Parts: sequence; structure tokens; C-alpha cells
Amino acid sequence: MKPSYFLYFLILIFATTGKTIAQSPEIASKREHLSIDNDWRFALGHAYDVSKDFYNGTGGFSYLAKTGYGDGAASAEFDDRGWRKIDLPHDWAVEQPFSPKGSFSHGSKAIGRNFPEASVGWYRKTFAIPASDLGKRISIAFDGVFRNSIVWVNGHYLGTEPSGYNRFEYNISEYLNYGGNNVIAVRADVTMEEGWFYEGAGIYRHVWLNKTNQVHIVPDGTFVTTAVKSNVADVTATATINNDDKKTRSFNITQTIIDDSGKALATKTTTGLTLKPFASQDIKNILTVSNPKLWSLETPYLHKLITTVEENGSIIDSYVTTFGIRTIRFDANEGFFLNGKHVKIQGTNNHQDHAGVGAAMPDALQDFRIRTLKGMGCNAYRCSHNPPTPELLDACDRLGMLVIDENRLMGVTSTQLNDLKRMILRDRNHPSIISWSIGNEEWGIEGNITGARIAATMQAFAKSVDSTRYITAAISGGIGSGISTVIDVLGYNYVATKNTDEQHKKYPNQFSWGTEEGSTVASRGIYEDDMDKHQLVAYDRKQNDFFYSLEQGWKHYASRPYLAGMFIWTGFDYRGEPTPFGWPSVGSYFGMIDACGFPKDDYYYLKSWWTNQTVVHLLPHWNWQGKEGQEIRVCAYSNCDEVELFLNRKSLGKKTMELNGHLEWQVKYEPGTLEAIGYKKGIKAGNDIVKTTLMPNQVKLTVDRKAIKADKKDIAIITVQADDKNALRVPTAQNELSFSITGPGKIIGVGNGDPTSLEADQYLERIDLINIGAFKEKFVDDLNAKAEVAADYNDSSWQNAFKDTRDDEFGRRVKAIVYRAGFTMPADAATATATLFSKNIGKVQNIYINGKEIGHEIKAGDGNTEFKLDASLLHPGNNTVAIVATPLLKANIWASVNTDPGLIQLAYPAAQYKRKLFSGYAQVIVQSTGQPGTIVLKAISPGLKQSAIEITAADK
Ligand code: GAL
Repeated sequence: MKPSYFLYFLILIFATTGKTIAQSPEIASKREHLSIDNDWRFALGHAYDVSKDFYNGTGGFSYLAKTGYGDGAASAEFDDRGWRKIDLPHDWAVEQPFSPKGSFSHGSKAIGRNFPEASVGWYRKTFAIPASDLGKRISIAFDGVFRNSIVWVNGHYLGTEPSGYNRFEYNISEYLNYGGNNVIAVRADVTMEEGWFYEGAGIYRHVWLNKTNQVHIVPDGTFVTTAVKSNVADVTATATINNDDKKTRSFNITQTIIDDSGKALATKTTTGLTLKPFASQDIKNILTVSNPKLWSLETPYLHKLITTVEENGSIIDSYVTTFGIRTIRFDANEGFFLNGKHVKIQGTNNHQDHAGVGAAMPDALQDFRIRTLKGMGCNAYRCSHNPPTPELLDACDRLGMLVIDENRLMGVTSTQLNDLKRMILRDRNHPSIISWSIGNEEWGIEGNITGARIAATMQAFAKSVDSTRYITAAISGGIGSGISTVIDVLGYNYVATKNTDEQHKKYPNQFSWGTEEGSTVASRGIYEDDMDKHQLVAYDRKQNDFFYSLEQGWKHYASRPYLAGMFIWTGFDYRGEPTPFGWPSVGSYFGMIDACGFPKDDYYYLKSWWTNQTVVHLLPHWNWQGKEGQEIRVCAYSNCDEVELFLNRKSLGKKTMELNGHLEWQVKYEPGTLEAIGYKKGIKAGNDIVKTTLMPNQVKLTVDRKAIKADKKDIAIITVQADDKNALRVPTAQNELSFSITGPGKIIGVGNGDPTSLEADQYLERIDLINIGAFKEKFVDDLNAKAEVAADYNDSSWQNAFKDTRDDEFGRRVKAIVYRAGFTMPADAATATATLFSKNIGKVQNIYINGKEIGHEIKAGDGNTEFKLDASLLHPGNNTVAIVATPLLKANIWASVNTDPGLIQLAYPAAQYKRKLFSGYAQVIVQSTGQPGTIVLKAISPGLKQSAIEITAADK
């Protein structure tokens, strides 16, 4: 197909089917970007005990410097049948119980330094590569593995990535078995921490298999920048092409911009390109789009750039880049402008975990969280303190949210600058990103000359990779010295003790904003401090003299046009950092929204001043039985001119709202109805009603989306509450609920937003692996030995097994061997399903458990080696396995024979999901299991009427 026709074909497919270009059959055969998230095996290893770490690194020549010698669980031959089956993304930290010995900054899960047995995770995946792929360039890309990952393919060591936040990609073309199976093995180690907040554990982001031509656009190899002049946008499109072939190749490049309907808006072809082996070239063109639809917060319009490589009349590579046309500008006196329009930054900081699922967030959860933030008028998101998963940035692009993308660690070594570069290259086409942050609160350097030098170098370096974004650094001290003297956009972390006016006077050309502010600590729905229970009121209150309250913070920023705006610490609560408490608090109190996404009252303060919607919000709840006649502090958040409060229809007075303020009354408690009515220009504009409720009477379930995709990935987010018999939600309810599910869905996590809850996030099948002990052996005449296999046979005089070399001489001398060993079953083994995954230690073997034959004449390699062990066969404590075998012999002198009999897997069924309500709410996250149909989630609780909700999982 000629290139022009091909392009037409491409655009047609895109326009008519709505499929992404990458899904079109033509393109799929050019470049494949395949998700390999499903069907992995997982097991915990050990931080230092090799016998519990699957003997990796112990075999002959299993050195990292010997290619193809990855041993133990890194070897392609390793038997992982006993391991758990999982799909990615996966976070093994969230699966662990809580422990006071865990790291409190990380949410006190039982992982990390004090838990070597839970701090190393192994992942393995077997995947097929067709013979027809030979000649392609094939790589695996990990969007993020926490942390210190080592990856092998088919036993070949590929590399180590220390950071849990970097994407990394390894070329595996040469290592693959074409026309057969291949094995990826990954070892992650969370013994050390990177941040001071929950970080998860394992392959918590997506993994991809990429297949391209040897001549191809490199990963993250396009760069689109836009300049808008009146009604025309100049789109500068750069593509970096590599020739990884062993011969010189000649080709043409076509760059085409399409709109969201697939219509081509501009195209340019560069012909006559030639690259020598392993050479690389940047192709840069300016494409003009007339009357461009701009990307904005209200209409986040996205374009696509399609870059194709054509050789001898055929398309050999194609690359789709999503981008937006928009302009950004900072002004030192007036703040930030998007498309020439002033936008006050109303931002939040966020980490990357959510209730129930930890760091392993399904993509749909990113959308849910960004929508929730937008709901309170948040227009900017700071990825504190690391580059986020790409799907978070996609959600920000799609939904209209500005972003500060943050580098993990300040520093100027080549490793550190390279990390910064990788972040920028990966993310620079996202229109949502307006700023690269080079670092956060580096107390050791931020106020001194070292900090100034490092920041200046990093800033210049970042601009050399992308000059279109503004460089910021978040600093907590040293204003007037160090980083604050050199950084383009000064990021203030907390201004209560800082004089921003003075800095602005001294550096009148410096842009500035609040990278952290409003660091309040509050429990959702709690209105009386309970220091014993670690619960803090949800009234807006400053933490201490180093911090402003939310309102004080916003007033500071709102009243100073030179400050571009502020980012609240934080949007969502997160695991870890339970300031001001320690154990048994395990989650933060900083959020405007709890860890599930349920708004705290502060959310409505912000919604009042951050949106144009009429807001009237009353706090607290009105269930104060026993406090009749006592004064209760009542607050109203509103953007109305005046708010009048009524208790049981009696006016308690109308008050005038101050800009960016709130109103409050002291109200003597009597049960009934509290109502706030907001007036704009004297006319009723909105109201809020809070009623005293009765006892919880019934469960109520609601879902964010009634229909989800039947794709094994999509989720439904269910809100659980308890209502009284008048259908009023009981804001103080703490009932525990149990959940069951039928249909093509599964529960993947539960939460309730309580920072002190030590309830499980997940209820999973538990898999324990039981190793069989060291064998003793006795030589016998044939496979019919009977006495020696009895459970109570005395083998004390037998020799340790495998002492004699298994050579031909051994084979002539020994006809058969009885091997005996013990294994220990735990007390509760009867509640588990036991399976022996055996491996042959003989050419032919019979297997006996406690004297009973379970496998007869099993031949090496015949596949029949998985045995369910009936509970009656086993008992707690010591058990015996006896194997009568004809000898396995070495193929040559350096070969070794298998001495591993396999292992016993104990699979304990998952307990039923349950969760308590916290201040009247809990959350259940349900995920599609891949098939279409109706999912029914049922919730029951003693004494309450049960409830069920249906969710449709559909193909589209
Ligand atoms: C800041 C820090 C944040 C968080 C916050 C809690 O110093 O940058 O990551 O720790 O304090 O108050």
C-alpha cells in the first residue's frame, strides 16, 4: 500500500470504527503495544535467607555476570506451579496485616526492614512468542515496580531498577525463544524505603510487551509542542528514530495531526532519510492547524499526532502521540495563564494509593479520583513526590486538570539527572503538565549554596530536555537564600512562618505559588477530639503555629495576585504519615477527602470558593443524644452573601459571609432539624439540612457506575451506608458489614476512611508452600519396595541422599532407590486444600505420603505430577514422603540431576469480605472478572435490613 493511501486507510479506520489507531489490524502488525498484566505467578521470597528466596544466586555460575545462568526462581525451568495466580497491577504490601513493628510512615503494614520474610516478592510470567516474530525488536516495559527490581528473561539477567517510580524497558529480542514459551522473572525488594509515605510493594503499575521493526521510533521518542497565534497553532512535532538493524536503512517519515474524530488536520512527510546501524536521528517539522480547538480545564480537547515510518512503499512503524494545543504562561505579578486566560491555581497534593487496593490502582480509579477532586473545584494536581503512573496523567489530560510532575530526588549525578530526564521524556506530551518540579523539601540543602547550585543545574538541565514547562522546587525553609534565589517558580511549602511579600519584593521577576498549604488534620465526620482513639475534629483547625488553617492558607493565596495559587496538603488521605499520631493510626489525616474518596467538611469550604456552584454546607451532624442543652459549634461553608441558621424552624440569626470565609454559631442542642439557608442578593439560593436520626435500620448501597466494561480491569465503586427507618443516613453508624458477590465480578478491596482502622483491606486465598526436608536414601532391587515406604519405618541408619555421583557407573550399580524425607504440616492444615506439585527425582518413580501410594510409575517429564492430597492422608506435625525411583543419571560430567522433589501447596480459602462503617460510610471496590453478565453485591449486617446492588458488566 502506498503511504498516502495507507494514511487515508488509517484515518478512515479510526474515524469509522472509533478504534484507536493501535487497535487497527494494519497498524497492529507494524507496532504492537501489548498488555501483559494478566496471568502472573507470585510468591514472597526472603530478604536474606536463600532457602526461602528460592535459592536464587546459589547455583554454579549463577553470577549476574554470566548471561543465561539466572537460577532458582530466576531460571526459566523453575517450577512455579505452587505460586499464587495474580493479575497486575498488584501490591503485596496492602495484602499484609498491620503491625506496630511496621514502618509507621508507610502505614504500618508488616513489610520492610523488620519483616524480611515479607519484603521480597517474586513474579513470574510465561508467555508465547510466535516464530513469525523473529527479526522484530521486542522489549518489555515496566511502568513501575516498587522497588529495587531485578528482571530476567529466560534466565538472562536484564537489569536492575532501584527506583519504584521510574519506567524501564529492556530489549529482549535476542533472548527469546521464537515459536515457543518464554519466562519473565522479577524480584522486587522493599526492605529499603524511598519516600516517607506508603509506597506499596511489587509490580503495582502496568507491564507491556512492545514489538517493532528494527527501524522504529524510540520509546517516548516523540515530542509535540504548540504555539498559538490568533487562530493558528504551530505544532512542532519531533520524532526520534533508531536503526537497531545491522545494516543501513532508508525510509521516509510522515507526521499527521488528527482531531478527535480522526480527521487529518495537517500532515508532513520527510523523505530520503538514511540511518547507519545503531544510528539515531531526530526529525522535526512544524505542522499548522487552523482554528485549533484548544485544550482547557473546561473542554480538555485532545489531538493525536500519528508518526509513520515508511520504507520501500510499506509502513514499517507507526506511533500515536496524544497531545493538546494550549498555551501556558506565568507572570511574576499576576500568576498563571492558560490560553491567555488567568487561572488561579486551586491545587491539591496527592500520593498514589487508595483504600482497599493500596498502590495497585485500576485505571478507572484514577478517573474517579480526578473527578472527585474536580468536584470541589480543584484544577491542579501535584504528584507528590514522584512521577506518577501514566494513567493518572492520561486522566488529567482527559478530564482537564493541571499537573506538577515531580522528580523523586534532587541531585546532579548522571543517575539523578537521568532519572529527571526519563520523567520528562516520558511525560512531556501531556497537555495537563505545566511544571516540572525538581524536588521537595530538601532540608539539607534548600537554604544553602549547595542547594542553589544543585537547583540551578537541575533547572537548566530540565529545560534542555523540555523548554516549554516551568521549573519549580518545593521548599520549606531558607527563603531568601539557597534554592529560593535561583528557581524560576518558587514553591512555598507552608507560609505561616514565611514572608512571601518580602521575597516577592526582593525577587520581583520570580514566579511563585504554594506547593504545600492548608496542612490540617481531621477525621471525616468526627466533631469531638478523642485523643485516646486518635480521632480529630473535622472543623478547619490549624495544626500548630507552623501551619495555617485551610481558610487562613487560602486567604493568603487568594489575596495575593503575584502568587499563582496553592496546592493543599492533601486532596486525598493516604496510608502512612498519621501525623500527629503514631501506632495504631495507620493513615493520614491531611486529606480534604478521605482515603476512599468521601469528602470531609473542608471539601465544601473549598467548593464554596473554588467553584461557581452555589454551596451551602452545614457541620456537624445533629446526633448529640445526651448533650441536650449543651452548646454545639455549628459552621456553614457557603458562597452565598448571607446564611441564616434555623433549629427546628426557629431562626438563630442571619449572618453575612466574608469572602473566602465561613460562618459559625454556638447552638444549644435539641434534637430535630438544623437548616442553613443561603441567600444571594437577598434571595434564597440554596440550603442544607442536617437531621437527628434514629438507630441504623437498613443497609444502603449505591454505585458510581451501574455498567462497567467486562474487561477484567474496569471497576465499580460502591458506597455503603446505614440508614434509619426514615431513610436518613446515620452519620455516626459503625456497624460491621459482610459482603458477598455473584456474577462476573470480584471484590478487590474495602475501606472506610478511618485512619485508625486495622481491619484487613483484602480477603484473599492464602497460599503457603511447604518444603520437603532433606532426603535419606537406600538402594533396593526395584520399584516394588514396600516395607521401606511405611510411615513409621526406621530409616535412621540410611545415608544422606545424593552423595554418590549420578554417573553411568552409578546407573550400572544401582537399580532403584528409596528416598525418605519428612515435612511439617501446620495445625490448621485441614482447613486448606493440599496439593503436591512433584518433580521427578527418578527416571520412573512411585510416591508415598505417610505410607500411602499417591503416584504410580511417574515418568520424568510426563506432566502427571500434580496430586491433590486428601486431608485424611495428612496430619499436623511431622509427615513422611517416600519415593521409590529408578536413578536419574547425569547427561555429562558437568550436568546435575534434579534432587528437588517439588513442594506441597496449602491453599486456604479466602474469608468473607467485611468492613465496619466509619462515620456512616464504607466502600467496596468491585472489578470485572472478564465475562459479560450481571454482578450482584450483597451486604448484610446483624440487626439491619440487608441490601444488594446490581452492576452490569458488558462487552463494550
Ligand atoms: C511536608 C512534606 C510532605 C508531608 C507533609 C506533612 O513537609 O513535603 O510530604 O510530609 O510535610 O505535613
